This record gives sequence, structure tokens and C-alpha cells, in this order.
Amino acid sequence: MSDIRYDDRVALVTGAGAGLGRAHALLLAERGALVVANDLGGSRAGEGSSTSAAEAVVAEIRAAGGTALANTDSVADAEGAARMVQAALDTFGRLDIVVNNAGILRDVSYGKMSARDWEAVLSVHLDGTHHVTHAAWPHLRAAGYGRIVNTTSASGLYGNFGQVNYGAAKMGIVGLTRALAVEGASKNILVNCVAPAAASRLTEDTLTPELFDRLRPEYVASLVGYLVSDECTDTGRVYAVGGGYVSRVAVLEGQGAVFADVPSPERIRDSFDVINDLEGAVEPLSGPESVDHIVKRMGAA
Ligand code: NAI
Repeated sequence: MSDIRYDDRVALVTGAGAGLGRAHALLLAERGALVVANDLGGSRAGEGSSTSAAEAVVAEIRAAGGTALANTDSVADAEGAARMVQAALDTFGRLDIVVNNAGILRDVSYGKMSARDWEAVLSVHLDGTHHVTHAAWPHLRAAGYGRIVNTTSASGLYGNFGQVNYGAAKMGIVGLTRALAVEGASKNILVNCVAPAAASRLTEDTLTPELFDRLRPEYVASLVGYLVSDECTDTGRVYAVGGGYVSRVAVLEGQGAVFADVPSPERIRDSFDVINDLEGAVEPLSGPESVDHIVKRMGAA
């Protein structure tokens, strides 16, 4: 098997100045991609900005012999997102790969969450993923080629205390990914999601020092590297990844309980074990496929 390379491919990586985004950008550039490295350079909570984060990773890529351009716009700003896509087109003439990775945290228990805590997290993660992808979309469609990787989180997939804003945004990204994968399929645009576990400033206070050392961002970058390659054919998938572990995550629907007529709340109660049972669960790949499953199961009544 040949090596995976991205020669002549142009990649936009958001939040590329640190942590996971930096690892993604370095890997893509090392294997021939021309990289637009975006980073707003703000704090972990999304305050302030600085050009140094994006500039530092670009300097690192260039020092290693790669090609990269810095962009310091915010993904939360639709016009900024359009500018980063335009930078790829103006400088490198095309855009093939988008890695939506930029992120912030405003952890706080729900009762204490301010409107600003909600909006700030939703606007960077969910709106940001949308703004960048939407700006790139017509160019990917016109080229008949695209590889998009979005970044979700276990906190969105499974929930976590103090992260209602973050969890909502991250699960929103899964919905965006799956619906967009359906739309992109006919144009050879693959859209997948990673749910990482990695050492970064977002996790330095939640991981033990032992785990922090083991969860190097490079482990996540390897998966992203495959997902954005020509060789990947999967789309609409979600992968949990970290420290050498990689696994697909799925949304499953059980065989359920089936009632021939409108069941009373008591019959629902009495069937709740069956309703909760995931034995023989299926994995619909779209909303219509889920409806097909329901219709098929209705026949079992
Ligand atoms: P990080 O804080 O090291 O990197 C995030 C980068 O995004 C920073 O350089 C930051 O300046 C940039 N950024 C923030 N807001 C931005 C904006 N509006 N526009 C452009 N850039 C912006 O954090 P890390 O861990 O590398 O996070 C990367 C992604 O992975 C995030 O989406 C995060 O939610 C996600 N994630 C990380 C996990 C982990 O274990 N590290 C776990 C689950 C998800």
C-alpha cells in the first residue's frame, strides 16, 4: 500500500494554533498539503485575540519545509469564515479539505450559566463549524471533491456536568455532519466527525498528569489524516479517538415494542423494558431510513 499524501491538496484547519488543530495542520503539511492555518489566538474561554498562535504554527510548518498561510479570523464570524476560505482560493487556487476544530470552553452548572456563556460556546463550535463549512461548500461542490472533518466531544455524545452549552453545540455538530454527509454524497464530499481525547489547554485541569502525557494530540491527527485522504470512502461517521484508541460511535435504534392500536400510558409502562432494550438494534443512516425501520416494525404488530 502506498503512503497517504495530500500533494496539491489545499487544507483549511481552524484552531490550528494549538493542541489538536496544530497537530492536524502539521501532519497535513508534512505530507504535502498546502495549509491555511486559522486561529483567533484568544483565551481558553474565548476572550481576546492574538496573531501569534496562527503565525507560530505557520512558522513551524515552513521550518519543516512545508507550505502554509496564517489566518487569524474568528470562525464565529461568518465574514471571517468567508475570508479564510477566500485566502485558500487566492493563495493556493483551490480548497479540498476542511478541518473544523476551533473550540473554547465556558464550563458552568446550568443554573449559573449566563446567556453569554451559552452564546459564546454555541457561536464558536456550532455556528463556527457552519460558517466555515458553508463558505467552503460551493467550492467543494464545484470541484466535485471535498473532505470535511468536524470535531465533536464525548460531552456532547454522552453528556457531562457543567457542559450543557458545550454538549448542545457538540451534538449539534453531529447533526450537521450527518445531514451534510447525505447532501455531499453525490459530489464526492465526505463529512465525518471525531470525538477526541487529547492533552491540550482544554483538558489540562481534567486529565491526570499520567493520562495527559499519554494522550498526545498526534494520535487524533492520524485519524483525521486518514478521514481527509483520497482513500477514505466513509461518510457521516463519528469516531472516538485518543491515545492509540480509535472506534466508531453509532446512533442506534432498537427493535422496540410495537402496538396495534394507540397504547395507554400504562401499556407503555408495562413495555418499558422492551422499549429500552437495544438487542438487535439497527443503525439508520438517514432520517428516511429510520422511518423505513418504523414502518417495517409496525408490520410486526
Ligand atoms: P485548544 O484550546 O488547545 O485549541 C483550540 C484552538 O482553537 C485554540 O488555539 C484557540 O485559539 C482556537 N480558537 C478558539 N476560538 C476560535 C475562534 N473563534 N476562531 C478561530 N480559532 C479559535 O483545544 P483542543 O483540545 O486542541 O481543542 C480542539 C477541538 O477539540 C475543540 O473543538 C474541542 O472542543 C475539541 N475537543 C477536545 C478534546 C480534548 O480532549 N482535547 C475533547 C473533546 C473535544
